[in-house]
Amino acid sequence: MEDALQKGHIMNDLHKDIQEVVLSEEEIREINRRLGEALTEDYKDKNPLVISILRGAVVFTADLIREIKCPVGIDFMAVSSYGDSAKSSGVVRVVKDLDTEIEGRHVIIAEDILDSGLTLSYLIELLKGRNPASIEVVAFTVKDVKDRKSAIQPKYVGAHVADNFIVGYGLDYAEQYRNLPYIGILKPEVYS
Ligand code: PRP
Repeated sequence: MEDALQKGHIMNDLHKDIQEVVLSEEEIREINRRLGEALTEDYKDKNPLVISILRGAVVFTADLIREIKCPVGIDFMAVSSYGDSAKSSGVVRVVKDLDTEIEGRHVIIAEDILDSGLTLSYLIELLKGRNPASIEVVAFTVKDVKDRKSAIQPKYVGAHVADNFIVGYGLDYAEQYRNLPYIGILKPEVYS
């Protein structure tokens, strides 16, 4: 009982920093159902490998794969940018590589958010070099930014979101809020 109260208290601490809900739990479930249906249709008999990009995409990936109703593998990659200026130049470093050979395999990269698109352009080029049978991207959210630096167009998109500071459902601010079950706009006073 005390535990439950304690947990409730902790979640309230996170909720109180949210200005507005952008995607509710129900909306998220619906999006995952739709994405899962499309992927099931397109990849039945292909045994694709879903590559989840740590850390943000973990929550989305866990929900997504349970909506894919055909055989599917899963692996993880972690990338890190060389500081802020490098991020805008698209130079990223592989911190954790795949454990799976992807030559001849159908690959689906799962991302929680496409912002500048630089992480994805780098990853796609890197993975193409390993000769997979195909590569597609499933992005849970795509941020509507004005001057996107890359022309990446994910084949599968959960939702387009406005250019706000959003957290939850895997998205963090200073490694917090990833465990919020919905996506919301963070109150500016939290980060300014
Ligand atoms: C976030 C997100 C994407 C990337 C998108 O990861 O998960 O991987 O940024 O941004 P871009 O389109 O501008 O490249 P982040 O580097 O914050 O790491 P995290 O997943 O561990 O939070």
